[in-house]
Amino acid sequence: MNGGASVISRSTVLDVDGLKAQFSAQFTGTPQVFSAPGRVNLIGEHTDYNDGFVLPMAIERRTYVAGAKNGTSLLRVKSLTLGESVEVDLAGPARKRRGSWVDFVEGTARALLERKLPVVGCDLLIDSNVPHGAGLSASAALELALGIALVSLGGETEPDRVQLALAGQAAEHQYVGTMCGIMDQYIAALGERDAALLIDCRSLEPRAVPLRLGTARVLVCDTKVKHELSSSEYNVRREECERGVSILSEVLPGLRSLRDVSLGDFTTHAGRLPDVIRRRCLHVVTENERTLAAAEALSRGDLARVGQLMIESHASLRDDYQVSCAELDVAAEVAAAQPGVYGSRMTGGGFGGCTVTLAEESALPAVEAAVKAAFLSRGFREPELFATTACEGARRH
Ligand code: GLA
Repeated sequence: MNGGASVISRSTVLDVDGLKAQFSAQFTGTPQVFSAPGRVNLIGEHTDYNDGFVLPMAIERRTYVAGAKNGTSLLRVKSLTLGESVEVDLAGPARKRRGSWVDFVEGTARALLERKLPVVGCDLLIDSNVPHGAGLSASAALELALGIALVSLGGETEPDRVQLALAGQAAEHQYVGTMCGIMDQYIAALGERDAALLIDCRSLEPRAVPLRLGTARVLVCDTKVKHELSSSEYNVRREECERGVSILSEVLPGLRSLRDVSLGDFTTHAGRLPDVIRRRCLHVVTENERTLAAAEALSRGDLARVGQLMIESHASLRDDYQVSCAELDVAAEVAAAQPGVYGSRMTGGGFGGCTVTLAEESALPAVEAAVKAAFLSRGFREPELFATTACEGARRH
């Protein structure tokens, strides 16, 4: 690959008519097509399960579902990306944690039914261009694409998007076995074109923050690293935060989560915390402040400030929350050092996956070249970089 045009103009739109035709070749009935996006989080990492603030945007990569009712109690689902089919009998007992993608199908369908949303037997054909395991929330894209498809085919004309997001999260918790926060499902459900969403993860109130980027772009760098550690360490971080809350609540009565701890209170009482817990809490408390500040700066079009906050966020995740890795550090640091770059940081859960960079469009070729050269010289796998705009959440086509 050469030059920056590839970074900014790669086509990512999936052929909806082609998907319908493929559906008709394998199933009966006239399909309707739905989709939901992957996401990149601009800032606000590991804050969602602490009732805090996040600032993600939905990206151009999406998961598509073509579907039609089949008049039975069965969900018959085929994935074109995996070349596999699964079946779930809605009339049979719920089956959890089978360790394959059937957990997403069964979990989403059962969680929707628990919320009294209409789910009936359907044939579904799935295709996706959200890279799997890259930290761009391919799982949430799948849950939300399935969710909007099932509920719409079941007869709901205006599905409640927050309920769809909560059903996706419940599928993760109960069927897949990942104790994620709400960020990924929420942005996949409610993402808006040309805006990031500032989400208050306690009230679940979103505020659209228009991306006033001018000539700048959001650049994603997939390090191609998938650390097996990520889910076990994720749960450890959650427990460490809970431990911090329980110790701090001895001196801060009424404390429910780290969201309620101001930087002033934290500084006063940090001495009560064991060192590791103190660092985890410090990250969360400061990350909430950075996220609110970044949303405010973004809405003013102050990209220099947003970039600076992104760089501080990365340092905090690397040094205090300790969820980065060598590839993420190199990608973020090399990108941030290029002229025309405002800031760069790891995005998502960490231990691999992607960085997000805010940079002038004219700087993208140099950023791509510099990051690739740095990876090559260290013997890392070749990363993939792509620019993206902010897109709409789950939708019917
Ligand atoms: C993963 C989880 C999210 C969030 C991020 C870290 O993506 O699914 O809920 O906790 O990690 O910010």
